[in-house]
Amino acid sequence: MKIVIVYGSPRRGNSYKATQVFKDEISKLGRVEFIEYFLPKDMPNFCRGCASCFINGEDKCPDYKYTKPILEQMLLADAFIFTTPVYVLQTSGCMKSFLDHFAFLFIVHRPRPEMFRKKAFIIASTVGAGAKEAIKTISTSLKFWGVNRVYSFSFATFGEDWDIMRAEKKEKIVAKIKRKANKFYREVISGKIHYPYLYILLMFYIRRMIMKKVETELSMDKKYWIERGWFNGKGNPFKEARGDTPPSRFSI
Ligand SMILES: Cc1cc2nc3c(=O)[nH]c(=O)nc-3n(C[C@H](O)[C@H](O)[C@H](O)COP(=O)(O)O)c2cc1C
Repeated sequence: MKIVIVYGSPRRGNSYKATQVFKDEISKLGRVEFIEYFLPKDMPNFCRGCASCFINGEDKCPDYKYTKPILEQMLLADAFIFTTPVYVLQTSGCMKSFLDHFAFLFIVHRPRPEMFRKKAFIIASTVGAGAKEAIKTISTSLKFWGVNRVYSFSFATFGEDWDIMRAEKKEKIVAKIKRKANKFYREVISGKIHYPYLYILLMFYIRRMIMKKVETELSMDKKYWIERGWFNGKGNPFKEARGDTPPSRFSI
């Protein structure tokens, strides 16, 4: 099993330490290769808003040298782990910036069928508030990439950081993380592809309708959909993920 981890903080603090518990537990269950990315080191720039990825292709992104190797690894992975501390009631800025760079993967643009087989787990840590919103920001992007199921866990330190946390409290958090890790491992290893999130399925059909009505043949998205056979209604990425049509011919 191969898992890509994206850490939403350079600090080896609470979210990092909780992730190590999750990793260790998964590693006990089978052979797992972890590919780890640390933000902002591995994606040091903000999205410039040039929209080149949408208009000219993701390889024209000024940060392609960062996005290319990460996307390659993500496409090969069975699962993802995304971590974030809560900053001002939200996901960390470097995590948001990372996600912005992959907007072209959204279901309404050029989603990669490989994503539709994958599972993801989000770990968030907070002093006490904002974990729900922080998780939602990451989870929304992953779902719009087509990720089949997104799970999460958050914990509140109430100011007692990991290393100074009362033993009893830490034990409870660790036990929960281990349970979640076990469940997640079983889910990933099962290879089960669940019914898509309904609103993602709807987005696909609404986008196709809009594309047919208003988009020119010059659009990158439309070309991509035509080449994949999604535009004429014969195929779609959900079917491709289940192996109903030949797998992706595309590579980056
Ligand atoms: C800039 C900044 C903003 C923060 N905002 C919040 C917040 O809105 N709500 C909260 O409960 N904790 C907040 N925190 C605390 C962190 O979320 C918390 O300490 C977290 O466990 C840190 O994770 P880390 O050790 O992985 O960096 C903030 C911390 C920083 C540095």
